[in-house]
Amino acid sequence: MQAATEFRVTAEEAASLGRVAVIMGGDSAERPVSLKSGDAVLSALQRAGVDAFGIDLYGEQGDQCPIAQLQAQPIDRAFLILHGRGGEDGVIQGVLEMLRIPYTGSGVEASALGMDKLRSKQLFVGAGLPTAPFAVLASADRLDEAEQRLGYPMMIKPAHEGSSIGMSKVRDRDQLDRAFGEAVRFDRSVIAEQWISGAEFTVAVLDGEALPVIRLETPHEFYDYDAKYQANDTRYLFEHGLEPEREAELRKLAIEAFEVVGCRGWGRIDVMQDDAGRFYLLEVNTAPGMTDHSLVPMAAQRAGIGFGELAVRILKGAG
Ligand SMILES: Nc1ncnc2c1ncn2[C@@H]1O[C@H](COP(=O)(O)OP(=O)(O)O)[C@@H](O)[C@H]1O
Ligand SMILES: [Mg+2]
Repeated sequence: MQAATEFRVTAEEAASLGRVAVIMGGDSAERPVSLKSGDAVLSALQRAGVDAFGIDLYGEQGDQCPIAQLQAQPIDRAFLILHGRGGEDGVIQGVLEMLRIPYTGSGVEASALGMDKLRSKQLFVGAGLPTAPFAVLASADRLDEAEQRLGYPMMIKPAHEGSSIGMSKVRDRDQLDRAFGEAVRFDRSVIAEQWISGAEFTVAVLDGEALPVIRLETPHEFYDYDAKYQANDTRYLFEHGLEPEREAELRKLAIEAFEVVGCRGWGRIDVMQDDAGRFYLLEVNTAPGMTDHSLVPMAAQRAGIGFGELAVRILKGAG
């Protein structure tokens, strides 16, 4: 990105940020995405003049225990760019709390809640925020009930995965049985959601404010792993087609979801709209992708914040 090469912190800022560890990798299913995000963040911080280095958790140096990796050299603050379990769910956040290293993004509790789609939805419901009707599939015995309550089509998802891993759209009982079998391979906690058939949006949040709304369009059945990372026919639109009041409503909803989960610093909220135009929260992402073509950097760029400045702002929010 052009702007990234131009953004520099002052010498005083660099000194007050200290020695920064960009923590990436991890051992979740999203490890490859995290490594890409981590590389992009690390080089942007270095180009901006921050004294940053990378730690690939469970990576090549990872014959050590991950905590030993964190203790191998002094760290003044951590830029956490691990996705998925172990990195986005409060576990590493708890370790950093114990080591007294300030880190970017949400704390232990919000990270754990944000990673759990079921608990997040329960919070949304409790706070009166809209989310798709759902059923908890504690075991295969619960499929009948889900079928009756939600009807078809339905979305089946593991509660603690990301990147659309283990998710399927189902239209009948046969597909439901198979989708449950697939999702349960990833997680003991599986949920069924009523299918929402309208537009999809994502709203990045930075320092308590919503960045420009992005509308996602894919010819795929939904925004699946391939549409996210491989396909070149996924479209990211700032011309989202929402009236100004609806856009304001969507931004407000994103901030409310961020706050209800107790998030800090930055994040990204996924939302869908039904055919009648009503919004439904899908999830909050507490450590979303930060490759140079990920959604948060895209939204920031639209707001005039280049990748380097974005990385530094997230870093400054560490606590
Ligand atoms: N209830 C639903 N109805 C229709 N599509 C859905 C529904 N839930 C999720 N999706 C689709 O699946 C994608 C991934 O779902 P999401 O809940 O955001 O999980 P992930 O953590 O994998 O991103 C969404 O971006 C959306 O395209
Ligand atoms: Mg999502």
